[in-house]
Amino acid sequence: PFNQNTYLINGELRTWEGKMTEIYSTISATENYQPTLLGSVPDMGEKEALEALQSSCEAYNKGKGLWPTMKVKDRIVCMEKFLKIMKTKREEVVKLMMWEIGKSLEDSRKEFDRTVEYIYDTIEEYKQLDRDSSRFVKRDGVYAHIRRGPLGVVLCLGPYNYPLNETFALLIPAVIMGNTVIFKPAKHGVLLLSPLLEAFAHSFPNGVVNILYGRGRTVAPPVMNSGRIDVLALIGNSKSAIALQDQHPNKNRLRLVLGLEAKNPAIVLPDADLDVAIEECVQGALSFNGQRCTALKIIYVHKSIEKEFIKRFSKRVDELKFGNPWEDGVKLTPLPEKEKPAYIQELIQDAIKKGAEIKNEKGGIRTENFIFPAVLSPITTDMRVYHEEQFGPVVPIKTFTQTDEVIDEISNSKYGQQVSLFGKDVYELSPLIDNLVNLVCRVNLNSLCQRGPDVFPFTGRKDSAVSTLSVHDALRSFSIRTFVASKDN
Ligand code: G3H
Repeated sequence: PFNQNTYLINGELRTWEGKMTEIYSTISATENYQPTLLGSVPDMGEKEALEALQSSCEAYNKGKGLWPTMKVKDRIVCMEKFLKIMKTKREEVVKLMMWEIGKSLEDSRKEFDRTVEYIYDTIEEYKQLDRDSSRFVKRDGVYAHIRRGPLGVVLCLGPYNYPLNETFALLIPAVIMGNTVIFKPAKHGVLLLSPLLEAFAHSFPNGVVNILYGRGRTVAPPVMNSGRIDVLALIGNSKSAIALQDQHPNKNRLRLVLGLEAKNPAIVLPDADLDVAIEECVQGALSFNGQRCTALKIIYVHKSIEKEFIKRFSKRVDELKFGNPWEDGVKLTPLPEKEKPAYIQELIQDAIKKGAEIKNEKGGIRTENFIFPAVLSPITTDMRVYHEEQFGPVVPIKTFTQTDEVIDEISNSKYGQQVSLFGKDVYELSPLIDNLVNLVCRVNLNSLCQRGPDVFPFTGRKDSAVSTLSVHDALRSFSIRTFVASKDN
């Protein structure tokens, strides 16, 4: 077991003497399913939370701190130093990620490499942004020197499904723009940060990044209640985002950068290339067991191709390989949230009670914290799986005869992140696309929904997001335009 009793507050790597929280792996090491103890992390409390807060506030010091006033080129030197050390920790981080959240070895490596690339790209984008946004505008005898500056102290919380990439997609742009950050990792995917603690401590001035271990419900309230947080940056669920905002005594001054739930639909038109549609829908719905906010969470299939689509889709799902994440070709792995299989079973039972059937042979078969994906059809609007974001291995398939029916349903959904549209006839597709882009933020033609490449804007309408992430947009989301105006005299 990996005892992470070192923690980072105010630039110091300290040794924790208090109670530790044990972290168990999602992967069973025995045939009789005994969760594997992976290690432990400090079970921090209010005292450490307030210490981290004080350190972040001092480092920002109302905009006068060393970090927010540091020259752009010097901030880049710190970021490059961090990146250099981080790259040496690849295999340590990857192995911990694989064991902690059950992501396949291949995907864990991809996540690490994607994060490294994200940091490189952010550094380049930051140089560009500095050149573009530092400019002079003259109007009516007044010169304005416009720049971009930090917002202040950020509380940053990441998700378990991308414990490195998505938290860094918040943390890195926030930091490089001159903000200071208190970072609370997700419950699963916390040990993998351990190899990077030194990198943070050695690359940035004290207090620029503070890391809080412990339970969110213990360490977050004192930080938010203080009223000293300027930005809440979270990728996760709306319930947590609302609870955190409610703890802030003056919500009006709180900036939000939120990546929340989605129920991305695929629409398969009668003339779609079914080979493409089926493969993209299988990957789109079930990569990392469907635990992606961008996953396809409902598939609308035209009545005329319903039978063929469901038959071939179900067969393809049954071919997906389940196993331990280090095995070659494994697509389905045990779930890190131990309540999740029971939740998925509830959704399946509810749908069956209301008239759905499981269409694939292996659908719903469960062993401890693994459940084989179930393909469900027909789907009606009274079913829980129609409304709830399953974030796991169950795929509801609903049929339609007119595309207007689907547009109405997407328009009535509380989410608005992305859509996948499968079809060939451009005359049919283009009015649909025009409609869909006003209901969601990204329409994927003949391909699955996804966040990347990371230079593309990543956002959503309605309950799906607040602000925009991406290499380009996140720097803007974590900053504000400021200027000095002077009269031409
Ligand atoms: O969980 C939500 C992630 O943003 C999904 O990212 O599309 O790269 O898998 P991805």
